[in-house]
Amino acid sequence: MVETPFNNIKKLLSKTIPSELFDKIPDKWEKVGDVGIIKLPSNLENYSEIIGKNYAEILQCKTILNDVGGITGTYREPKTKIIFGPNNTETIHKENGIRFKLDPQKIMFSSGNMDERIRMATISNENETVVDLFAGIGYFTLPLAVHSKPKKIFACEINPVAYDYLCGNIVLNNVTNIVEPLKGDNKEVAPKNVANRVILGYFNDTYKFLGTAFECLINHTGIIHYHDKFPDDVVPNKPLKNIEEIAKKYKCEVELLKYKHVKSYAPGISHYVFDIGIDEK
Ligand SMILES: C[S@@+](CC[C@H](N)C(=O)[O-])C[C@H]1O[C@@H](n2cnc3c(N)ncnc32)[C@H](O)[C@@H]1O
Repeated sequence: MVETPFNNIKKLLSKTIPSELFDKIPDKWEKVGDVGIIKLPSNLENYSEIIGKNYAEILQCKTILNDVGGITGTYREPKTKIIFGPNNTETIHKENGIRFKLDPQKIMFSSGNMDERIRMATISNENETVVDLFAGIGYFTLPLAVHSKPKKIFACEINPVAYDYLCGNIVLNNVTNIVEPLKGDNKEVAPKNVANRVILGYFNDTYKFLGTAFECLINHTGIIHYHDKFPDDVVPNKPLKNIEEIAKKYKCEVELLKYKHVKSYAPGISHYVFDIGIDEK
């Protein structure tokens, strides 16, 4: 058998897990800092501790969490249960020269968004002001601040736990001179008429926040990065229509600069990002 982490996990579990359940052992996981997250099917729950112990050993994690409820709500909170290791799961995840401090029991971190975090790192420049309407712990704000060094980033976050990590991560990554964190609903706290670029990194009917994004732009002119999940067969027409409707209200023209499939969400439904140029008519 080829030496892969999954094959090594299976080898360790071969004497414990009954053969009829062996193919249910999860072959995917998230590793956030030194915390591992797996999704155990219910028929393996009786074996959760030994499974957790072996994942911890092979993935070099202190704690293994079982994803029991996905990521839900306005705050995009994960629902997990510890199956192995200590309860203190605060950790530092390193990626692309950035240090993201977070607790994966309270805050999501998606490996599926990594390419987009890396793309955002180089998308801006020193002449721009950026508004991140859904900053979280700094998923896009931090790579952008560290690698693109714009004049200023206003980072809005409504979840108090995520906001505290955002503030800590701004210090941890030495970007206090660039990033101004703003606590609260972006509809209330986002600054108006200041930005060349606005990021909407969210997917819960994100179109409801497009008006706020237009208002952040200087003279309703600039670029927005509009995320949401859509049935694959309506892309890019449906999201573009959402933008065009708002643009009409602001008497603006829109241009689809680029769109990108970020990750699959469910059969036939994916998370996309649309880069849209906006200009007053
Ligand atoms: C978790 S992030 C999305 C994931 C991120 N794009 C990534 O790359 O992994 C979305 C954040 O938006 C925040 N949020 C939701 N509604 C908001 C609002 N109205 N104003 C400000 N922040 C909001 C949530 O609390 C959450 O932290």
